[in-house]
Amino acid sequence: MRKEVLIAPSMLSADFANLERDVRTCELAGVDLLHIDVMDGHFVPNITIGPLVVNALRPITKLPLDCHLMISNPDQYIESFVKAGADYISVHVEATNHLHRTLALIKSFNIKAGCVLNPITPLNYAFDAAEYCDFILLMSVNPGFGGQSFISSFLKKCEQLRNFLDINGMSHIDIEVDGGVKQDNVKQIVNAGANMIVSGSGLFNGDLVSNVINMRNEINS
Ligand code: DX5
Ligand code: ZN
Repeated sequence: MRKEVLIAPSMLSADFANLERDVRTCELAGVDLLHIDVMDGHFVPNITIGPLVVNALRPITKLPLDCHLMISNPDQYIESFVKAGADYISVHVEATNHLHRTLALIKSFNIKAGCVLNPITPLNYAFDAAEYCDFILLMSVNPGFGGQSFISSFLKKCEQLRNFLDINGMSHIDIEVDGGVKQDNVKQIVNAGANMIVSGSGLFNGDLVSNVINMRNEINS
């Protein structure tokens, strides 16, 4: 049975001077969660936002906040993101020396824990980490920037991961995709087994509400 497919706009592509307005438009469009890209200028070349912004968003929406930490030493900041209101936290496997410990730390706050694999990070990491995760984020671009092109090797990787989860009694674990997701490739991505769809430029370029509706129609087509 296919899992429910969730749509998560990447707020990196929102208008930072009008974040509340864009959150309201996301709500109007019926998205399922808000994806927040946290970058530190060390783990990835770009610097974006931190817990203060998550804290500012928390009182203005009931949508779950999905914090994608592209930062070194994530353990040091996890509690701050939880206190700020994160509902999901994911960490890159290369960003922590002790992934099991980091995932356990996230779970200790009773929120959803995920690990993130870059496009060429071996899938074995996800096989071993799966039982400690609520979701696994497979990057379909190199992390750091919005608006990059989808790397198609994602599809094979995603199929392999979905098969692994299904045959090992872990079908409940969600697979999130992030990077270059647009209306014209989302169906393939869902068919490969992903069920949390992050999209930044694909949703924010143009009319957000109709882009979300069109993407959902494409998923259900
Ligand atoms: C990239 C970020 C993504 C990015 C997606 O490092 O993790 O969430 O904002 O943007 P698009 O959909 O434009 O590739
Ligand atoms: Zn992201």
